[in-house]
Amino acid sequence: MRDTVTPEVLHTVADLRDRVASHGVAGRTRHLNRVVLVPTMGALHAGHLALAARALELGDRVVVSIFVNPLQFGPEEDLDAYPRTLRDDVARLGELGVPYVFAPTAREMYPDLPVGTRVTAGPVASRYEGASRPGHFDGVLTVVTKLLNIVQPDVVVFGQKDAQQVFLVQRMVADLNLPVSVEVVPTVRDEQGLALSSRNRYLDAAQRRGARALSAALRAAASAAGGVVGAIAAAQAVIDAEPLAKLDYLVVVHPQTFLPVGDDHHGTARMLVAAMVGTTRLIDNAPLEIS
Ligand code: PAF
Repeated sequence: MRDTVTPEVLHTVADLRDRVASHGVAGRTRHLNRVVLVPTMGALHAGHLALAARALELGDRVVVSIFVNPLQFGPEEDLDAYPRTLRDDVARLGELGVPYVFAPTAREMYPDLPVGTRVTAGPVASRYEGASRPGHFDGVLTVVTKLLNIVQPDVVVFGQKDAQQVFLVQRMVADLNLPVSVEVVPTVRDEQGLALSSRNRYLDAAQRRGARALSAALRAAASAAGGVVGAIAAAQAVIDAEPLAKLDYLVVVHPQTFLPVGDDHHGTARMLVAAMVGTTRLIDNAPLEIS
């Protein structure tokens, strides 16, 4: 546990580079001098704080970026309504001991509109989340690439909750030989198993109870017999029994390719689930060991 600090909030690329680059202390071990980036869109909850806490174990120069990235929102999505709570976020990061917050404006990140060069996320990006959010992952990978170039971290930290995002970032880092290592932190859940998400704040009490169906479905799959088919059937039954949850997709993917496994798959896999609860879209995932 680190001492509470007052994080420096940097709004421009030039200031961020100047402060983070100059923070390295001669004589400190390379480990302590490591730059660690936690990209976020703010509205921080305990899941984000777990990412920041892990970052602080990995190096001293921790930068949490807070930027609601317009490129990853579709025209019908909640860009304007997305919660923006910078003051509270900075205070919570200060309690953890995070020294730097990078909070650029959209103009600082995208000064020349329309945006010209973008990263293309590849075929897996049009499945699952990408099927209902076309272009979403191109937007994510474009901003992540920009943040990696701006901060130049040794390590970048992501949450396992966004499994497809993690897969696509890892794939991009490998495909483009980006000089950064990707650290993945397990999903943080409330006592009832609901994965923490900034969007949980849109749920009323009944919907919050209904939203538990997603993690309950994953647990049912993990203990089901009957291979891939049995796991999907068990999870589907849990979602179908919850009147407030409307299933979008439920799929078992191969951890290496993130493509759906065949019915005869054995060994490690990952189940992904997405559902609408009221007007809120929720996702969750968990590893599966198919015997
Ligand atoms: O996971 C998120 O909050 C966002 O997709 C990210 C990685 C910060 C990019 O905007």
